[in-house]
Amino acid sequence: MYNNPRLILDTSDPLEPGAITWRSPSNIAIIKYWGKYGQQLPRNPSLSLTLAASCTDTHLEYAMKEEGEDSRISLDFSFQGAENEAFATKVQDYLTSLLPVFPFLGQLQLTIRTGNSFPHSAGIASSASGMSALALCLCSLEDQLFATLQDPAEYDRKASYLARLGSGSACRSIFPHAAVWGETPLVAGSSNEYAVPVGDQIHAAFKDFHDDILIVSQAEKAVSSRAGHALMDGNPYAEVRYAQARTRLAQLLEALRTGDIATFGKIAEDEALTLHAMMMASNPSYLLLHPNSLAIIEKVREYRAATGHPVYFTLDAGPNVHLLYPGDIVHEVRAFIERDLEEYCDEGYVQFDWVGEGPEEM
Ligand code: PMV
Repeated sequence: MYNNPRLILDTSDPLEPGAITWRSPSNIAIIKYWGKYGQQLPRNPSLSLTLAASCTDTHLEYAMKEEGEDSRISLDFSFQGAENEAFATKVQDYLTSLLPVFPFLGQLQLTIRTGNSFPHSAGIASSASGMSALALCLCSLEDQLFATLQDPAEYDRKASYLARLGSGSACRSIFPHAAVWGETPLVAGSSNEYAVPVGDQIHAAFKDFHDDILIVSQAEKAVSSRAGHALMDGNPYAEVRYAQARTRLAQLLEALRTGDIATFGKIAEDEALTLHAMMMASNPSYLLLHPNSLAIIEKVREYRAATGHPVYFTLDAGPNVHLLYPGDIVHEVRAFIERDLEEYCDEGYVQFDWVGEGPEEM
């Protein structure tokens, strides 16, 4: 869709070396993307809230290659100030796959320094923040070199598209507050190729929402998201699940518009449990929940019943529990976490987060 052989630098024109830095956040899906086809295309539309504190900072430096060097990607990569072969290979492969989109990448010497605002391998998914930060750097690079992405909406669309190719859910991190990814008649301009912003369609109450992430386990997942998505293909409930996601998206959009926190919370919890039910119903079946995840879920439901405070949970494809609640009860909920939930967390670790304004160029 974005292949462009004209994005090639004129080698007779000297190019000043330059640098770009983006900070990009993670996001938490309320309607889950689970099941894909083709090149990272979703089987159902998803909706997420954009986070603020769980971010990746990516710094990209570029200079023209020496004459006579070949046009393979030339990359010097570091993560959290150190070499990281696994990530370097991943980024190298990603950049190589983007050569038809950005042929000029083959003409440049690239240095990428990246790091997260949260401890590495804390069980917080970093692919959404990481791939969105990198995609934004690449779009800024194109624009610096060719002035071809001057329209902000087009810039965001391309960044979202590229982030998606890196990691599906990353495409939703480009936008402030909330985003929808996947074609749906409910959201004008929505697409399977990229996410679109829906922050202007949500009630102020949700722009002040918190998402505290209770880190139940920092261990690497036994089954990757990639494998999990693939197992949806043979899942007997898959079609029902995809239809259900569409129905719930309609209900959620209405709740977001009207400020209906109870409906929002019910959908968030139902979606979290459905996601894990799909894993349990896969062939082979598998479980990513930990006994402590279930203990926390029980405690949250008890607390809500006892206090009436609108605190809800959601889950990603892992054992960590996200607590969703409005900003006006932050003190009560923090006390609840400290008193009743921290004991279920790995080394008592909780990542405090909230709905944010989206990526920032530094
Ligand atoms: O972006 P991926 O391929 O890592 O898939 C992530 C899927 C979930 O996090 C479980 C749900 C979602 O929509 O973010």
